[in-house]
Amino acid sequence: MRQTIVVGNWKMNASKETVNTLVLGVLEGMPDVKSEVIVCVPYPYLCQVEALVAHSQLKIGAQDLNVNASGAFTGEVSADMLKDFGSEYVIVGHSERRSLYGESDEMVAEKVQVALDNGLTPLFCIGELLEEREAGDTETVVARQINAVIKRVGIEVFKNIIIAYEPVWAIGTGVTATPQQAQDTHAYIREILAQSDADIAQSTPILYGGSMNSGNADELIACEDIDGGLIGGASLKSDDFLRICKVG
Ligand code: PGA
Repeated sequence: MRQTIVVGNWKMNASKETVNTLVLGVLEGMPDVKSEVIVCVPYPYLCQVEALVAHSQLKIGAQDLNVNASGAFTGEVSADMLKDFGSEYVIVGHSERRSLYGESDEMVAEKVQVALDNGLTPLFCIGELLEEREAGDTETVVARQINAVIKRVGIEVFKNIIIAYEPVWAIGTGVTATPQQAQDTHAYIREILAQSDADIAQSTPILYGGSMNSGNADELIACEDIDGGLIGGASLKSDDFLRICKVG
């Protein structure tokens, strides 16, 4: 039985004030939440969130990391720095990093490896573009993205990886994949993992992301192979986010 996991991805949206209100609001509702809940915080606010969530069940993640341990990499942040501020998770390969910052499957695979080597759990994102779905290439794309990581780190370490399937056409658009579309792809993702290891295919959490909100989370998370959500826009309001957290 896989536990439901709900992750908030704040992206580049925060201020000291909004972070305070949001986190305190989420913490208030946490006693009624059975799911594992993680908030992925912009770097400058990690310290603030670490202090706010101390002794609670709310976990901290970051949104990216650099593959180097330290040195002359102006503007970059290492795995150790993330851990220094309480991060246990890190988003890797989000479609915005892939499309806006040119992250290839191989770069994403390296980041997954560095996260794992440093004891961070990667929230490994995959998903197809609209034109790829329309061309019938969804399965080819997600297989390619997953196999790049399996090739680099092996299947065993998927015990410590959370996959997030995020169809790019659903991210921030208000267009959500139907439960059937999402379920079909999640089941296919498990098939790809099963080609290497059937047990790992069954135990790996696969979250759905892309315009998930408090109105559609129930239906999506009820699907057999959907183990929770990676939530962007709806994670910025504590009430909305908590409603999704309580689905699990
Ligand atoms: P969205 O973003 O919920 O705003 O569509 C999801 C994500 O990009 O992780």
